[in-house]
Amino acid sequence: MVLPLALGCDPRPRVGEVPPRSVDAVAVERAASDPARVGPLVLAHGGQGSPASRSDGPAVAVDRGFARLESEGEDAVAAAIATIESLEDDPRFNAGTGANLRLDARSIEADAALMDDRARFGAVAGIADLRHPIRVAEAVAASPHLLLVGEGAQAFAGTLGLEARDLSTPQARAKLARGYAKLFAGEAGPWSEWDWRRHWNFATPAPAKLDEAMALLEAAEAGAQGEAPDETPDETKDTVGVVVRTAQGRYAAALSTGGTTLAIHGRVGDVPLLGAGLYAGPHGAVAATGKGEAIIRELVAARVYELLARGQTPADAIRLVTREISPEEGVGVIAVSDLGWGTGATSQMAWAARDRDARHRADTWIQRQDR
Ligand code: GLY
Repeated sequence: MVLPLALGCDPRPRVGEVPPRSVDAVAVERAASDPARVGPLVLAHGGQGSPASRSDGPAVAVDRGFARLESEGEDAVAAAIATIESLEDDPRFNAGTGANLRLDARSIEADAALMDDRARFGAVAGIADLRHPIRVAEAVAASPHLLLVGEGAQAFAGTLGLEARDLSTPQARAKLARGYAKLFAGEAGPWSEWDWRRHWNFATPAPAKLDEAMALLEAAEAGAQGEAPDETPDETKDTVGVVVRTAQGRYAAALSTGGTTLAIHGRVGDVPLLGAGLYAGPHGAVAATGKGEAIIRELVAARVYELLARGQTPADAIRLVTREISPEEGVGVIAVSDLGWGTGATSQMAWAARDRDARHRADTWIQRQDR
């Protein structure tokens, strides 16, 4: 698989300005790198905007992924899936149970994707009512296709015998209530300049005022399971993700999401788009989180991967690609290569990493680092 940057046809100067290191220089750096840095590793995030206090979720998830890695040896994809499933089951994160609701306060449209270093890729967009959307992406990766969407994807998922589940939670409804408040106050960024009511594409009518929107949520609440959220509101917006490196230097990345906070029917973000939300290859693995539109425009994962392939450390590669993305856009990235691993985000992001020696969490190292 050849990336646009490798072909030299990407018009953006920022990463292109980074001089590629010679193959020899890369080889020397690898040979000189601390052997303790190279070994099995699972690194997961709980989404851009998620506070470090929630890094216990990714910490449990990476333990599960690492256990899978230890029991299944070289299967980086199996470890990535086990990690994502754990995060999909955690209602505090925007994936699986707890996924964001769409603007109608009823529907959830989940996206998921995975990729490994043999260019095996599978993705799904716009599916509902499944406990583990990542399992659908896995099945797509085993098919002749790369990406399935909407009704076709849902019907395909129906052939897999996966566990069905109502993914809506009180936390997601509370988050949409905060989104409605911003929307009707004209404080929702580009939504304030867009006539979203004119383009409303749900079966139910568009709310004209905030109290009508809140009534949509109350109606959803009436038929719902679960207790009111017992936590203070947070800015967790987005997506769960994982990158994996095996003992033999095999790589995989995976993502799962309910999409962005305010979204009409059919909106798809970066997660199922190869090179936008995730990328994996022989030089490493990358998983992004945050505002999908910004991640797609900046082709975040492919560009970070390209820098890994040129011999940059994961932390440097993340910094170079994210430094010009506005904090208002909100983007985070995790990455691993044979030079180490790194995390970086334009705002807070819960993450955890597990290697043979230890488990690391966002509340011990905020932002980014090389290990
Ligand atoms: N990053 C997930 C999304 O924007 O849908």
